[in-house]
Amino acid sequence: MGETGDQYPKKIRVGIIMGGLSSEKEVSLESGRNIFSKIDRRRYDPIPIFMDGRAALWEIPLKLLMRNSTCDIAENLADEAKPIPYESLKAAVDVVCLGLHGKYGEDGCMQGLLELLGVPYTGSGVLASAIGMDKYVCRRILEINGIDVPQTIPVPRRRWDADGKAVVEEIVRGIGFPCVVKPCREGCSTAVKKVVAAEGLPAALDEAFLWDNVALVEEYLAGMEVTCGVLGADAPEALIPSETIPTTDVLSLEDKFLYGQGENKTPARLPAEQIEKVRETAVGTFRALNLKGYARIDMFMREDGRVAVLEPNTLPGMTPSTVLFHQAAACGITPAGLIDRIIRSALEVHAHKRGPL
Ligand SMILES: Nc1ncnc2c1ncn2[C@@H]1O[C@H](COP(=O)(O)OP(=O)(O)O)[C@@H](O)[C@H]1O
Ligand SMILES: [Mg+2]
Repeated sequence: MGETGDQYPKKIRVGIIMGGLSSEKEVSLESGRNIFSKIDRRRYDPIPIFMDGRAALWEIPLKLLMRNSTCDIAENLADEAKPIPYESLKAAVDVVCLGLHGKYGEDGCMQGLLELLGVPYTGSGVLASAIGMDKYVCRRILEINGIDVPQTIPVPRRRWDADGKAVVEEIVRGIGFPCVVKPCREGCSTAVKKVVAAEGLPAALDEAFLWDNVALVEEYLAGMEVTCGVLGADAPEALIPSETIPTTDVLSLEDKFLYGQGENKTPARLPAEQIEKVRETAVGTFRALNLKGYARIDMFMREDGRVAVLEPNTLPGMTPSTVLFHQAAACGITPAGLIDRIIRSALEVHAHKRGPL
């Protein structure tokens, strides 16, 4: 893939940012240190940067990088890490590789900060990241582009509090059961609940409202869950899709989906033409949302053969076991090669942008 071929006169300094403020900070730590360990050191000079719970940045030594959790790291920052005030980031790195996931990291906030600081970063820009995090807005845009999405009713908390009865009636009429309730903007299956009857709605909605002021009630999708990575910017290409195999108890266990319970199989066990359809839908989604660099699109192959998009992940997990690496491997791309492509793409798109990405 040419990731080790050319010689650079000077190594590119890559600030790998991990941790952060979201419910996914522990996964982010795993993503960040995996990128740190796999990155091609002949071309890049990686700098591990920890974002603490107040969004402050710290350059951390290896000793801290290897700690068990973000809490363990946070306890020792003052003594063992070097603070990086925002305004000095541009002088410290040539590009930021975002290992963050979820709120404030994946949703356009961090991207906006980096735009103001003038630092190029991996992945999608401000607007695409924000849209990608909002499952409702995202679905409306995909629909306009002719992409199938689950039928969805957004429920603002105020409407639920003021007129819960009407909301239940609308759900019974418009979606029926089983349905799925979730916060509009979260990750890691946080507060995602399958609801089998109207009586289950209040508890599921109340839980979703702990995470966002808007909850979604959506059609329960049957069929095969698939996920497909996409790389590139102007000419995005799909990797080989994986199938997500739920463990049998995932759906029955208190009707709750547990993060990481599903096992993945790459390639998905589907006929060649359906694999192509999944790849086309992933690329169509990437284009419709104006995503950049890389993303992983979660979808369902419905029993009638239509491909419904569940959600895009604009900064997908980069932990060692993540499907993105399996999908890249199936295309002959090594982990170092994948990281290299993501960083190159960032340098390229930021060099040619006019205004924020
Ligand atoms: N409408 C749905 N029908 C069937 N399964 C769903 C539905 N919504 C979510 N799930 C299951 O729950 C998981 C997490 O939901 P998702 O919407 O992707 O939220 P998150 O952003 O937390 O990952 C999915 O990967 C899927 O297995
Ligand atoms: Mg998901």
